[in-house]
Amino acid sequence: MLILYGTETGNSELLALDAASVAREHGIEATVKDMEDTNVEELTGVRRLLVFCSTWGDGEQPDNAQDLFDEVSECETGTLAGLNYGVLALGDTAFDLFCESGKEWDAILEAKGANRLVDRMDCDTDYEDDAAFWTEESVKQMKTVE
Ligand SMILES: Cc1cc2nc3c(=O)[nH]c(=O)nc-3n(C[C@H](O)[C@H](O)[C@H](O)COP(=O)(O)O)c2cc1C
Repeated sequence: MLILYGTETGNSELLALDAASVAREHGIEATVKDMEDTNVEELTGVRRLLVFCSTWGDGEQPDNAQDLFDEVSECETGTLAGLNYGVLALGDTAFDLFCESGKEWDAILEAKGANRLVDRMDCDTDYEDDAAFWTEESVKQMKTVE
């Protein structure tokens, strides 16, 4: 399983690392990557993907997520067929565009042919318990993928 994070101040990265531990507890091999360190070609070879991504500025992608997001946006429809994914969005309800980046990831992955295996969770600033619950449930779902 691949676990990607888009972050500015590290919250999503820590959740991604936690998810890798949970995956290993469930016997799933997991690799955690900065979104900056992957590309669409790698994603086409992945069957299981968890995305942890925060929102910055005025509903914008974090800096380390923008290039990958653009690359995915520009790839052909159907490119990501075979990829099963789930998105956890980090944000703050004080902002108008709450969790916008995570919502964008959830939508673009589906638009490019990937299968939303687990529903997205949008988390506010007190996200720890919700994120831990979502991660556990998502890893269990990922176990059902061949
Ligand atoms: C300058 C700034 C802009 C932000 N803009 C948004 C936003 O537009 N929408 C949102 O839901 N959250 C926004 N947030 C909240 C962050 O997404 C939230 O703090 C998140 O936990 C950060 O996670 P990270 O450390 O992985 O980047 C913003 C936070 C800051 C400091």
